Amino acid sequence: MSDEAGRDAPVRPASAMIDTSVAHLARVYDYWLGGKDNFPADREAGERVIEIVPSVIDGARGNRAFMRRAVRFLAAEAGIRQFLDLGTGIPTSPNVHEVAQAVAPEARVVYVDNDPIVLVHARALLTSSPVGATDYIDADVHDPDAILEAAAKTLDFTQPVGLLLAAIMHVVADTQEAHRIVARLLAAVPPGSYLVLSHLAKDVMADQIAVGVAGLRRLQVELTPRTAAEVTRFFDGLELVAPGVVQVHRWRPDPGADLGEELAMHCGVARKP
Ligand SMILES: C[S@@+](CC[C@H](N)C(=O)[O-])C[C@H]1O[C@@H](n2cnc3c(N)ncnc32)[C@H](O)[C@@H]1O
Repeated sequence: MSDEAGRDAPVRPASAMIDTSVAHLARVYDYWLGGKDNFPADREAGERVIEIVPSVIDGARGNRAFMRRAVRFLAAEAGIRQFLDLGTGIPTSPNVHEVAQAVAPEARVVYVDNDPIVLVHARALLTSSPVGATDYIDADVHDPDAILEAAAKTLDFTQPVGLLLAAIMHVVADTQEAHRIVARLLAAVPPGSYLVLSHLAKDVMADQIAVGVAGLRRLQVELTPRTAAEVTRFFDGLELVAPGVVQVHRWRPDPGADLGEELAMHCGVARKP
């Protein structure tokens, strides 16, 4: 597979590796977003969580909308022209490059995910503007060195980068390991780079979230929610931009947005000094 500029994309037959018998986070999330790339096991898992936490749909959509507002902020107000998006998810338009390149056509975006179904859809992520660039890396977030090495083919790590960790770090159960990964990524980017991070909340609708997480665990989807204070620690050493760490729908909301609901997703955006 290659994009319009002829760059090579992954070629291994990912479709052969897709196990539809068990739920996968990317496909459950796609179901909550109203997408079509999910299977009965994913829909069953998704529905089970909806029964326990009905606001999970608004949480997923609110997270996706936060991610787009944050990318627009980085491109339009912070002058960021390069993005590394870890835990990309099944393409849902507008994807990161569409948002960034609407502001700055020359923006370059590298997507990373480890789910074969996302790999199958990678072509949809490789539709860059002619003057920008996109790439897709099939890799695990636990291996930031491999990700950084592959991303360097498309991104210039001497220039600021927007690191996007939207709804991904809660797949890393070990908190020390989660911080090691974020620290390694931040160490690779120069001052003036930004970290965008959203994370399943442990301290919003805490009882429901605990039951929902336990239900997903029985279906082999392992998530580790964290409190606002724990999520804020990911931004240690960085300059959080206003309004700081908040629930996803309350981060620089579009005019007229409904902010009354409680959504169990914390988020923040911060600059590396
Ligand atoms: C909830 S989706 C988030 C999608 C997108 N970032 C967003 O916020 O809209 C989480 C994504 O992380 C991916 N993922 C889960 N574990 C991963 C890992 N160990 N390494 C890389 N990606 C992973 C899943 O395949 C899924 O596509």
